[in-house]
Amino acid sequence: MTTKSPPSPISVWRPIDTDTFLLGVPHYPEHVDESYWERDAERMAAAGFNVVRMAEFAWHIMEPREGVFDFDLFDRAIAVLARHGIKTILCTPTATPPRWLTLHYPEVLRVDVNGRQMSHGSRQHADTCNPVFRAHSRRITQAMADHYRDHPDIIGWQTDNELNTSESKSYSASARREFQQFLEEKYGEIGALNHAWGGDFWASGYQSFDQVVLPLDNAPVSLSPGHLQDYHRFLAFATARFQHDQVVILRQGNPDWFIFHNLGRLEDIDFRGQFSADLDFLGYDIYPMLYDEMQRTGGIGYTQALHLDVCRGHTGNFIVPEQQSGFGSQPGFATLTPEPGEMRRMAYSSVARGADGVMFFRWRPAHFGAEIYWMGILDHDDIPRRRYDEARQFAGEINAIKDKLLGTHVRMDVGIAGGDFDNQEAHKTYPMGLPSPHDDAIILHRHCYRSGIACGFIHPEDDLSKLKVLYVPHWLMWKDEWTDRIEQFARNGGTVVLSARTGSRDENNHVIRTPAPGHSLASLAGVAVEEFGLLAGVESDGLFDSARYGDSLTRVRQLPESARRRYHIKLGNHEVVAGHMYELLVPEQGTEVLGGWSNRFADGRAAVTVRTVGKGRVIYAGTYLTDALVPLLFGEIFAKADVSPLVEALPEGVEVTMRVEGDRRLLFVLNTTHVPQQVSHLPQGHELLGGETVAGALDLGPYGCAILELGAGA
Ligand code: GAL
Repeated sequence: MTTKSPPSPISVWRPIDTDTFLLGVPHYPEHVDESYWERDAERMAAAGFNVVRMAEFAWHIMEPREGVFDFDLFDRAIAVLARHGIKTILCTPTATPPRWLTLHYPEVLRVDVNGRQMSHGSRQHADTCNPVFRAHSRRITQAMADHYRDHPDIIGWQTDNELNTSESKSYSASARREFQQFLEEKYGEIGALNHAWGGDFWASGYQSFDQVVLPLDNAPVSLSPGHLQDYHRFLAFATARFQHDQVVILRQGNPDWFIFHNLGRLEDIDFRGQFSADLDFLGYDIYPMLYDEMQRTGGIGYTQALHLDVCRGHTGNFIVPEQQSGFGSQPGFATLTPEPGEMRRMAYSSVARGADGVMFFRWRPAHFGAEIYWMGILDHDDIPRRRYDEARQFAGEINAIKDKLLGTHVRMDVGIAGGDFDNQEAHKTYPMGLPSPHDDAIILHRHCYRSGIACGFIHPEDDLSKLKVLYVPHWLMWKDEWTDRIEQFARNGGTVVLSARTGSRDENNHVIRTPAPGHSLASLAGVAVEEFGLLAGVESDGLFDSARYGDSLTRVRQLPESARRRYHIKLGNHEVVAGHMYELLVPEQGTEVLGGWSNRFADGRAAVTVRTVGKGRVIYAGTYLTDALVPLLFGEIFAKADVSPLVEALPEGVEVTMRVEGDRRLLFVLNTTHVPQQVSHLPQGHELLGGETVAGALDLGPYGCAILELGAGA
């Protein structure tokens, strides 16, 4: 695989520029005796793999003493694999600096919020904003790049490993100095910083940049949102800078190498900035059985879909450098185990949502260390069993259809504004127990997932023309230049839905001085917010809300209905209980009221408005989404915008997506459940995994997968 042309601008519609679908595993030859290596390579080749990823935790092997490099082990491992047709992706090993480094340069260690210095023995203990650590990171990257620059079997690189996943924040002395310098470069003079952070509030201002402190929240009470916002902007800047150092060296080493990063927890990374601009594509490590959303949103299938749609929203198609294959654990937790067929189904779900490469984590489990029960494709006894068989089946199938897949993007009829670092952080600086933009987005995204509607995430700066509907989940920091883009989208026939509080703060996190949603959005939507206030959580009584404040407050139960502060919203003939926030809207002339508040003092006031703009509509919803509101509100919107499911009457647990390019249309139909499912209302197409023609209906076995290649006009 080569990605020789410079990466094209980031966009959700961008496929990876490749003719090879990467298939393989993260591999740790340093964990077994060399006598295993030949058989490993034979088995990988027999499975249809074409690549392994190596060395992300092996700095101590490649540089056993400062300045002394030894690549022998990896040279030999790469050679054995190459003899069997397997290429290698190398990683910069900076997630695990060796002990000699932390011993001689203890200032590189991260310091947590309580002042505790991280220690050797686990990983990600070094501070990526520390200049000494950056110098060592450049040294090892340079040494690896020099050693491998002409190696025919090294095809690309992963930078570090899941940057910021264990911890993104640092409170070390060097972090403070770097933060101060970042601020000085940003503001130039201290008065500008004091203005931005609101220095006259609680005497929080400074006389010089070297007085500025790192933000210790709750020490003893809350901080200025501006201070917190800039700290997270700094962390994102420092993370991108750390990676950029490595990218510059690797690109100089060999411009034909592709470079990506494998994302983990997505903390303090600005995916629309330098971080992604430096890479050819993103990688996303997907462990659907590991994430919190599984409990909150109900379901392994949905969790995976959500994570991958978020990832694709940043830069387009991606690879999965780590795809959960079996039982997984670290000492403090364990995940469920994929059932037979489920590993393959999860791999297809990744492809269905934009993966142009899948690597199963990991080739074999470790016998020692903090992940001894993180199973691989092989078991501890080195016997290939069901996971090997499924990987081989998947690889064989993908190898057969890769030319149809590569070059396609994932269809989206509904886009949810996502991937904006400032808006994500602005919420966190002042959350008030309210749903984040991401939490709010999930409610619409999950509704679409369950109904088979093609939905994903997109930034307003991206190409909106392929969408029918764009939903903006209360983005506090709206930029006026985005208004032009969404206005154009509406003029051409699109529907824009703006939600409560959008545009209500400026880039310093100051509340704007005109009625929300601010000049440009107010005139586009034809509406002004006259009053806003808090609503009870949908399930709560409205006085004390345990979801918002935790259980430490005594809750009043069994209130009479009259004492419950439940606000109703009415659309057409239907009324639902609204949640989280209300806004009382004043529509301008020419703006219609689509829905109103329908009880208590707000009765009769506008809650949802609509304005015709060109061939499209701009809707302003003065509340947050709830599970009850979404079908009501978006039922109307989707009907008018001609949004319909890819497949009607989808059985529960069956997911559908479509990958498209020109005339090519591939409909993925995946059974995420352990029981057989019959899917009807299917268009006619050729099923690529079974080789049959399908018209109308399809039977899927437990975790069964189908990809329908649709004919023109279907
Ligand atoms: C990933 C990480 C891997 C391994 C895996 C299983 O987040 O990149 O190194 O730890 O999780 O825990």
